[in-house]
Amino acid sequence: MNITVIGTGYVGLVVGACLAETGNPVVCADLDQDKIEGLKRNVLPIYEPGLDDYVARNQSQQRLTFTTDVAAAIARADVVFIAVGTPPDEDGSADLRHVIAVAEQIGKHMRRELVIVTKSTVPVGTAAKVAAAVSQHARLPFHMCSNPEFLKEGAAIDDFMKPDRVVIGVDSDHARSVMAELYAPFVRTGKPIIFMDIPSAEMTKYAANAMLATRISFMNEIANLCERVGADVDNVRKGIGSDGRIGPAFLFPGPGYGGSCFPKDVKALVRTASECGVPLRVLESVEEANEAQKHRLFGKLRELDSQVARARRDFQNPIARLDARRKLPRQCSESFVLGGLSGVPGGDEALHADALLAPGRRDGRIGCVHRGPPFNKQNLSAWRCGNLSSRKPWPMIDMRA
Ligand SMILES: NC(=O)c1ccc[n+]([C@@H]2O[C@H](COP(=O)([O-])OP(=O)(O)OC[C@H]3O[C@@H](n4cnc5c(N)ncnc54)[C@H](O)[C@@H]3O)[C@@H](O)[C@H]2O)c1
Repeated sequence: MNITVIGTGYVGLVVGACLAETGNPVVCADLDQDKIEGLKRNVLPIYEPGLDDYVARNQSQQRLTFTTDVAAAIARADVVFIAVGTPPDEDGSADLRHVIAVAEQIGKHMRRELVIVTKSTVPVGTAAKVAAAVSQHARLPFHMCSNPEFLKEGAAIDDFMKPDRVVIGVDSDHARSVMAELYAPFVRTGKPIIFMDIPSAEMTKYAANAMLATRISFMNEIANLCERVGADVDNVRKGIGSDGRIGPAFLFPGPGYGGSCFPKDVKALVRTASECGVPLRVLESVEEANEAQKHRLFGKLRELDSQVARARRDFQNPIARLDARRKLPRQCSESFVLGGLSGVPGGDEALHADALLAPGRRDGRIGCVHRGPPFNKQNLSAWRCGNLSSRKPWPMIDMRA
């Protein structure tokens, strides 16, 4: 089966490499010439554990190729995956411009009966819009399919190769049997392929991300309350996470959710709901709680900062000096370094960390760790750190010195 994946970003690259790994001839197409030129030389635009090996191996064995010739990639395909970005529009809804542009290209250049799969995260009704855009130009039959992607950045290969489940929305037996054949190698351990209608598949992706975001905001608010009443949220987390009805995942309090998916997907779902006159009040509160949480970290850093200032003052006083030496936090320097700002552990995407950093930026005293490989003590010196008030490239700081 000839597979073409259009959009070679995070999702497209993982999908293309993993489908090639199971023996399919795959072409990954993208408009970004630099990205494609790099990929041809096995230079990946993202950091994702194990992905470089998959790309190099499948490229050398000629199952995986990269191109900017989107038309030619469509012409050879039996199955086309649309994996372009769906960024948030000004009103929070998903911007489908790239998806529809690709649909028109597919209609113009398809040369055989085709299964068209939306991999991008798209609102309910998008497959119908894609079908309409393809139909404007198509002379041959095609079948629509919605196959949302649940991979986690940082564990994307494992998530794709060994999924908990595969969700596939179809509107024909042909699409169903093609997709069942394609995914058979990934569900050999008995994990289910859940076939459903297309609108339900489109909704499933948003509902999944909305549920996870809800758990994060819920737990952050419980943590804030614990702090106030003298309870330890870590104990509370263990106490509730061991309940089989609740489970332990996504119950870790932190500075709020970010990354390229949760914020935009929650917004898009809230937007869809309000357009339909069915308000999602719980999710609206989830967003509100998340916004507030982003600022708490800096509140804490400021508190630490004033402790440092107080300890420094005490340091000038010989009598208080001994005590001050004990109190002075080790981070006693002009800037703080924050690690773990990527959207997920093991990933390198610091998108929307900007919002998280905004309060620090105002006084320009709180440094941050920029994009880079995963954060650990060994490679800390290689991270780009600096003063956020500067727009110049940040200097490298060796924290071990
Ligand atoms: N990143 C994730 O963890 C993740 C997980 C699940 C689902 N998703 C969803 O998958 C979709 C893609 O996400 P991503 O993170 O891979 O995006 P991305 O921005 O990393 O990649 C999108 C790619 O599409 C290319 N592109 C845009 N228009 C094109 C066109 N007309 N023809 C060819 N290429 C084109 C861009 O050049 C870019 O390389 C989004 O809808 C996202 O919400 C992402």
